[in-house]
Amino acid sequence: MTDKKPPQYASWTHGKLPLPELAEMKRRGQKIVMVTAYDAPGGRLADAAGVDIILVGDSAAMVVLGHDSTVPATMDEMLVLTRAVTRGAARPLVVADMPFGSFQVSDEKALANAIRFVKEAGADAVKVEGAGATLSRVRTIVDAGIPVMGHIGLTPQSATMLGGFKAQGRTAEKARQLFADALALEAAGCFSVVLEAVPPAVAARVTESLSIPTIGIGAGANCDGQVLVYHDLLGYQEGGPRFVKQYARLGPEIQGALERYATDVRSGTFPEPQHTYGIPEEELALFEEGLEHQPWTARTPISSSTTDHATKT
Ligand code: KIV
Repeated sequence: MTDKKPPQYASWTHGKLPLPELAEMKRRGQKIVMVTAYDAPGGRLADAAGVDIILVGDSAAMVVLGHDSTVPATMDEMLVLTRAVTRGAARPLVVADMPFGSFQVSDEKALANAIRFVKEAGADAVKVEGAGATLSRVRTIVDAGIPVMGHIGLTPQSATMLGGFKAQGRTAEKARQLFADALALEAAGCFSVVLEAVPPAVAARVTESLSIPTIGIGAGANCDGQVLVYHDLLGYQEGGPRFVKQYARLGPEIQGALERYATDVRSGTFPEPQHTYGIPEEELALFEEGLEHQPWTARTPISSSTTDHATKT
């Protein structure tokens, strides 16, 4: 951690990007970089890459846990993943995605779960999907001092009601509703709003009408920032939504490495001497001698004083 204040920040606290800085970035026209992550190495790498916000998305249900929607994600799963990310990431703001069922029932339940993310998992903020009834959840959580990010457009938790994973706001009426929802989320206290799968012209109009930053995913270049799912941008698998740009093809890379490993194990070319641990000649001789003179069985106890621990020798 450095105590040197980066010149682009209005304020600087304990190495963490100060939340009010996001609105300043919007004002300055400086794009906000957000990515999802689900474990400590992902958090560490995103931090090292200079990412501003890490979202521990409920997309974890799909890209990490193998479900075909985000709906099954549970609080317990999201808490474990969020805790792992906050262990790895120091500077980026870490936003925990409130899973389906964790905030829909009541303001009280939403607040209790938001508090768990902050207290138990070290999250800096939470994200909730939708407007409507979500607005009073936002007000309640923000009133308790927890920053909230909104999420409208394609909201995967309600994909069934939306008719699938489809672009939103594509008629004048739907675009007007989206616009009104964005303004309402700002008024309710959100510090930022994700716009997912929304026509760029609509996203641009929303963006210029809000004083809080918009973060786009499939919403064009005029949003104040962008977010992509970690596994999508790193190319863990082919295909995916049209708004994804792959910056790596880790899927084939990882599979190739695993295949080479399997080949080496099967052919006996792994491990090599440099991957193993030595034992002094005399100790080995004593070991062999002991075996010859003592009838060992699987249940013969080994005293702790002779128990060896792996060393680098
Ligand atoms: O869960 C998630 O990853 C998200 C992003 C796609 C915004 O909500």
